[in-house]
Amino acid sequence: MDWYSGWFMSTERPLEVLLVDDEVGTIEILGAVLEALGFSVTLSSTPEDAIQAVTSREFDAVITDVMFDGRSAGEEILAATRELRPRAVCILMTGFPRVEAAVQAMKVGATDYVTKPVDPRVLGETIKRAVSERRLAKEELPFQDLVDILSGLVAKSIERVDPYTAGHGERTRRYCKLVAQDFGLDAKTVERLELAAIAHDYGKIFLDDLGFLTKKGPLTPMERREMQRHPLVGAERLGHHPQLQHVVQFVAEHHERWDGLGYPYRLKADEISRPGRILCVVEVFDSLTTRRSYKNAWSLDKTMDYFESQSGRAFEPDILDTFLALLAKNGQAWLDAPKADLTAAGLLVPAERGAPPTLPRVLNGDPSPGAIRQ
Ligand SMILES: [Fe+2]
Repeated sequence: MDWYSGWFMSTERPLEVLLVDDEVGTIEILGAVLEALGFSVTLSSTPEDAIQAVTSREFDAVITDVMFDGRSAGEEILAATRELRPRAVCILMTGFPRVEAAVQAMKVGATDYVTKPVDPRVLGETIKRAVSERRLAKEELPFQDLVDILSGLVAKSIERVDPYTAGHGERTRRYCKLVAQDFGLDAKTVERLELAAIAHDYGKIFLDDLGFLTKKGPLTPMERREMQRHPLVGAERLGHHPQLQHVVQFVAEHHERWDGLGYPYRLKADEISRPGRILCVVEVFDSLTTRRSYKNAWSLDKTMDYFESQSGRAFEPDILDTFLALLAKNGQAWLDAPKADLTAAGLLVPAERGAPPTLPRVLNGDPSPGAIRQ
């Protein structure tokens, strides 16, 4: 099934179609087949009737013949439809040969055309394609909706495997956005970084062994090697769509280090993109300050000490300074955020009055910085 048929079938109501031709027998047969294909069809045999119908009702598509009694009244029907029902698609039924038909259709502002004799199934597919393209063009998703959809999808996959990461992608997105804006990155790059932040650990769900994602002790060298595949696996799985090219790059870079000791490519300094460097800092922050299966959440002081020790080592000093300034302002809120997300995910048992909240599983103590696992 092609994408528009799938999309079409997912819509709730049948598409409303107005079919106009003075050959009544022809449109009765066409209409009956279209009805059988799931459309709701209205027939008109004169331009006047058709314009009256368009005036009084909303249609998703108006399909009309060109010539009526020797005059090209089809153009009048299309003009009325464009004016009265701008959301409807207009399709010409024409006896012209192919090229002339296309030229004619464009001239009078039709969305598409079909040549006579009309194959009802071809007409059905043409209507569905035209309507879905029109809706996609008209209803471009606002960026925030796109972020929410992607966030939900990624959360349902990664967080299902490792529930302790509940909200990690979304928090990383929010903090990355603040750092990037303070750093003066342009709006398009900030959006790409936000998408990469949401999806940065996407590759984890495709690793061969998912068991060690929630392992309590340190990873074996083999497990660590497997874990370190996730930036590239994620980048590969996100695909090669040209629109996602930069997003994919930032995902691949999120475990590189400023000093060149990261992975997968041991890129160094500005060999890593600036958004990638921001993601490196923020992602580590949220991992450290979140409780995981193998460690407790770090305190703000301990986290600050660690970040200051990593200036020029793991992290670019300028980006780190920007990040630490934001952390000084938002520290407590950012430290409290993971608990709220764990509670929302049903992982944190709400506190009895006066008692501290507890996780339902016993977790290990603090690791050394060397035991950080992201
Ligand atoms: Fe990661």
